Amino acid sequence: MSHYPPLDVKIVTPRLELRGATDDLLQHLIPAVKAGKATADPPPWDDPHPFYESDPDVRVHKWLRGIWRGRGTVTPDLWRLYFVVVVDDEPIGMQDLIGSDFNSFRAVETSSWVSSDARRRGIGTEMRSAILHLAFDGFGAAEATTEAAVNNTGSNGVSERLGYKRNGTSWATHQGDPVLGQRWLLDRQTWLTLRRADITLSGVEACRSALGLPN
Ligand SMILES: CC(C)(COP(=O)(O)OP(=O)(O)OC[C@H]1O[C@@H](n2cnc3c(N)ncnc32)[C@H](O)[C@@H]1OP(=O)(O)O)[C@@H](O)C(=O)NCCC(=O)NCCS
Repeated sequence: MSHYPPLDVKIVTPRLELRGATDDLLQHLIPAVKAGKATADPPPWDDPHPFYESDPDVRVHKWLRGIWRGRGTVTPDLWRLYFVVVVDDEPIGMQDLIGSDFNSFRAVETSSWVSSDARRRGIGTEMRSAILHLAFDGFGAAEATTEAAVNNTGSNGVSERLGYKRNGTSWATHQGDPVLGQRWLLDRQTWLTLRRADITLSGVEACRSALGLPN
């Protein structure tokens, strides 16, 4: 228990846990970030991104500073919850949930990575299911969106498997190169028909208050 509600939310599925990204848990992810296992080829992130930093120590510093900044920026206009993905007691990636003007739009975005040596085993799909459970069941979201380069088979594969619909495209640069992004949208009605009964949430009420969500 950290006594900071956004860090005390926990989501448990049959295969993994999402735990609030405390500094202790982040420490366990540093070897993966240093080794470049948090990113992929082709580069999946919009510029600028800490994972594109070539010096491993600077990469870790920028990545941590970004999370600390985000953890400390909790307003009704913008909040971001950072979770560490834990499988068999081992931290292997991160799953974030972002709300922009959530009280007006009830829309969330997600962002994630899994260590490259743990991909293609269904973990990415399971952790997205977990965060969607928090968004729709815990926070009463109306829709969830995400976006990935059209050539990002992993991220787009997860969105497709979980019932998202294609929702247009937009341009971004990835390490300076223009890349077309595929946008995806999952609405509440579709999620309700697909919702899982084997995911449990804890610490949600206190977190809702801390984020300024209406009752
Ligand atoms: C996106 C990411 C989190 C997905 O995690 P994952 O654990 O590999 O995902 P899953 O195993 O649940 O895969 C889901 C589906 O995506 C597709 N997929 C995943 N990786 C793929 C690949 N390399 N090639 C082809 N299809 C792939 C498959 O359809 C897969 O289902 P299948 O294994 O039954 O065929 C992971 O690839 C990752 O960390 N990528 C780097 C960071 C990133 O791109 N983040 C998103 C930025 S927008």
